[in-house]
Amino acid sequence: MDLARFAVWLGETQGSIALHESLYMYTLIESIHVIGITLFVGSIAMVDLRLLGRAFSTVPVSEMTRRILPWTVAGFVIMATTGLLLFYAIPVRTYHSVWFRLKVVLFLIAAVNIWFFHRRVQRNVEYWDRQPVPPRPARLAATISLVVWASVVVAGRMIAYNWADCDRPQPDWINWIAQCTSYGG
Ligand code: HEM
Repeated sequence: MDLARFAVWLGETQGSIALHESLYMYTLIESIHVIGITLFVGSIAMVDLRLLGRAFSTVPVSEMTRRILPWTVAGFVIMATTGLLLFYAIPVRTYHSVWFRLKVVLFLIAAVNIWFFHRRVQRNVEYWDRQPVPPRPARLAATISLVVWASVVVAGRMIAYNWADCDRPQPDWINWIAQCTSYGG
């Protein structure tokens, strides 16, 4: 079963229909999704500002990451859980949303950047842990992180708008990106 048909199947399940037609539950989940951004993206931004030497410059980088990471993980669990529920409520439209697809690509870029930071940059942190302005690779990773997560927020916000939806006439490149040919909405 390809993903487009899986989205159609998902949208016909009792749970998806109930969540989609719910009076308050969908709104509550979306509100928690938005509140979760403050914890997830907010805590990431604090560490990135330290890595850029723009804030907390007297606090060792390793202490910042050690004390803030649990909050970031808690924030991610909230974002992933509510995000999957938002997807579950409107799977076909969301699966074919160019903004949702952009969001997934941005997640992959963010994941590569996080891997690069933890596996490469942070490896010799003992040499620059107390420097007010960390070395260039750390600042580069922080800059990419801030730009990518800000873009995820914008892409997430745009999902609600139907400008590029498959059920409206679209230029070929949008039909191609959104895979409108297999749109089952
Ligand atoms: C982890 C970081 C994430 C961030 C920063 C994020 C950010 C956002 C933002 C800002 C919105 C707009 C909310 C609004 O307009 O009220 C949104 C909506 C949405 N997000 Fe996320 N999101 C994240 C993760 C996820 C995940 C993992 C999924 C699903 C797999 C997801 C699925 C959605 C969906 C379907 C909507 C559209 C809701 C709607 O407008 O009807 N998000 N997200």
